[in-house]
Amino acid sequence: MTIHIGAQPGEIAETVLMPGDPYRAKWAAETFLTDAVCINQTRGMLGFTGTWNGHRVTIQGSGMGMPSLSIYANELIRDYGAKTLIRIGSCGGMQPQVKIRDVILAMTASSLSTPSRGIFRELNFAPSADWGLLKAAHDAAVKKSTGIHVGGIYSSDVFYDERSDLNEQMTRHGILGVEMEAAELYILAARYNVRALAVLTVSDHLLTHEALPSQDREKSFGDMVEIALEAAFA
Ligand code: HPA
Repeated sequence: MTIHIGAQPGEIAETVLMPGDPYRAKWAAETFLTDAVCINQTRGMLGFTGTWNGHRVTIQGSGMGMPSLSIYANELIRDYGAKTLIRIGSCGGMQPQVKIRDVILAMTASSLSTPSRGIFRELNFAPSADWGLLKAAHDAAVKKSTGIHVGGIYSSDVFYDERSDLNEQMTRHGILGVEMEAAELYILAARYNVRALAVLTVSDHLLTHEALPSQDREKSFGDMVEIALEAAFA
């Protein structure tokens, strides 16, 4: 057990999918895993371990924002031996060609700051995805004919962002979408020499102000979970 995860040693798989929402972890485990068992309930941040096509998988909520994700990812890697961490989450679209329900594979994650900022000081470290996972996720998405985009995203600390000028600069520089966790996940993966990727469903759009209708959420999020699972075990 760690401070934030109540699982016993050995109850967490080497491959961990991390949605922000603990109830999405429960839904994904019940929908996609066989024999899923709840292995964490500390602070309601639910985690489940089961199997997918015979492979052991844990689906553990990360909470919202990089400080929360950082706590869970640190403990999963350092204390439970996680080797592959895939964020599955939603993002806001920032380019006209990116449509609601499309999936973005985050090749890089820009940010103003991350919980790791203090150790990098003047260095602007470039957080990037694991190439093998990225390629495998792209192959899986192409087979599914999901609308797919690969490129840079923006990991923000603010959901209700007053800096419209910053969002405009992100769009101008080709950033595909905005979410709040991936940059720190990529930095931790680099630090501990493990694999990471963020697979993101576009749930709302900063340019068009559209949002994914609630009845479409499960199907769209399901594609993302399958892409993540196929990439992890390709
Ligand atoms: N901003 C930040 N995070 C998000 C958004 C957004 O518009 N949509 C989904 N996650």
